[in-house]
Order: sequence, then C-alpha cells, then structure tokens
Amino acid sequence: MTPPVWETGTGQIDYLGDLTRRIGGFVLEKERSLVSDPRVMDLLFREKVGTIEELVARLRKLPEGALHLSVVESLAVSDTSFFGGCRIFDQLEKTIIPWLADQPSRTHRLTLWSAGCSTGQEAYSLAISADRALANCFGWAYQVIGSDLSSRSLRTAESGVYSQFDINCGLPASRLVDYFEKRDNNWHVIKTLKKNVSFQKLNLADPGAPYPEADVVMVRNVLSYFEPNRRADVLGKIKRAMRPDGYLILGENETVDPSHGFRADSNGPCRLYRPAP
Ligand SMILES: C[S@@+](CC[C@H](N)C(=O)[O-])C[C@H]1O[C@@H](n2cnc3c(N)ncnc32)[C@H](O)[C@@H]1O
Repeated sequence: MTPPVWETGTGQIDYLGDLTRRIGGFVLEKERSLVSDPRVMDLLFREKVGTIEELVARLRKLPEGALHLSVVESLAVSDTSFFGGCRIFDQLEKTIIPWLADQPSRTHRLTLWSAGCSTGQEAYSLAISADRALANCFGWAYQVIGSDLSSRSLRTAESGVYSQFDINCGLPASRLVDYFEKRDNNWHVIKTLKKNVSFQKLNLADPGAPYPEADVVMVRNVLSYFEPNRRADVLGKIKRAMRPDGYLILGENETVDPSHGFRADSNGPCRLYRPAP
C-alpha cells in the first residue's frame, strides 16, 4: 500500500503545497491522508499513475497548465451538505431576506452568492431559503450564483441530482417534498427552483477573477484554508463587489477582524457580517 503523502518525502509535499498556495490560494494540510481521499485516487486513476510520487514527477516535467490546475482542484477539501452548520438558513429565511426585500432602494431582485459551493448543496439551500422567504413578496425575484474552483464539483452542482446519502446529510423532509423529485433512485432539484440557480467556475485566489455583485455572500469553510494575506485579499474583493447593505456569511468557526472591512452583525453562533462604512 502507498504510504501517506507526508511520509513520502518533503519534496513532494512541498511541491504540492506550493501549487495549492500559488494557484488555489489554500494551504495543503500535511495531516490529511491524500491516499485515502477518493478524489485524489480518482485523479491518479485518470492520469494513469500509480502513486503520488509518479504524479509529482510528471507535474515537474510539464509546463504549468491544465494538469496542475486539475491537481489543485482535487486537493481542495470539498465536504458539504444541505443546510449545513448552524441555523443560518432559518435566519436568512425569517429575518435577513425579508429585511433586504423591505428596503425601499431595492430593485425587486436579490442576488445570493455561494462562493466555494462545492457540489451545490449550499447554493440550493440558499435558493430554497430565498424561495420560501419571498413567497409572499409580490414581484420579487432572486438568483443564486454558485461558484467553485473545481470543475468536477460544478458538474454535480449543475446536474442538481443527489443521492439518498446526500439528501440524508441535512435536508429536512418538508424541503425534500417541496423542492425535489425522485427519478432513477436519485433526487432531482425541481425545475422551478433550478432555473434560479446558476453555477460558474471562479477561482477566488485569481486576482483577475470577476466577483459577482451580491446582496448575500456566503463563503463558508473556504477561507479558513487560505493563508492570511490571501484571505484578506479575497475579503477585500468581496467587500468591493457586494452591495453596501448586504450580508457576508462565514462558517461557524470563521471570523473576520475589522481590518478586513466588515463588522460583526450578531453574537450568535452564525457568523454574520456587514460591510463597514
Ligand atoms: C469545504 S468545501 C465548503 C463547501 C461549502 N461552502 C460548505 O461549507 O458546505 C470548500 C470548497 O471551496 C472550494 N475552493 C477552495 N479553494 C478555492 C478557490 N481558490 N476558489 C474557489 N473555490 C475554492 C473547494 O473546491 C471546495 O469545493
């Protein structure tokens, strides 16, 4: 059996860590077992190489390009679930979206952005929350943009098709009944919800990447893997792109400090921020 990557010599770890930092902005955790990660195994299989050492040897020989990006995509942590984490989706549905829809300056259209959406569960959870919150707000529309570095994750997100296992990870039964239909043993997001959700490939660490203008930016469990300088750059860009009266939502264990240009909006477990004036 192949030894874990951190036992294979610091040369390979340093090489891969340098790639993820430079291209994807995130730090490769050395404790993570790459050889038990199905996405890394899948990559080795696709590239027809037997070990991580062989893969690194190939990467070193090639000019930096598609294969390097594909490796970085496979090395990003991609865990996600429907309505994951604290009660932020309840708060969105019952408080935040109704408040935004009540602002006289608004154009009857809300944009919610799931940045680092992985396989799409977070983006569809946002869409369900917006759909329910705006059900009685006549004339209001919403769009959800899901973006990620990983093309493979985005393909699943775009399909809107989830296994029973995915559904069991967090989706309440009432939302399942209202927003999914079962076909071929899988659960498909219904068309009326799906038409409000689009996905795009966007590398947050790319200085030239255009960030969408959004009322709500959800960037959870992404920036905690970034180096402090990169995190600050991304937060600065999010702040410049988002609406000044919008909301930034981070993961449960993530915070930003005032130097990033945001102020905390709640003391609860949900990490909610507003752009500072
Ligand atoms: C742990 S998952 C979090 C998914 C979702 N936000 C959640 O909390 O359920 C992190 C996601 O961030 C994405 N990611 C990592 N670095 C990125 C970057 N530079 N640009 C865009 N997405 C990135 C990964 O591909 C992965 O899908």
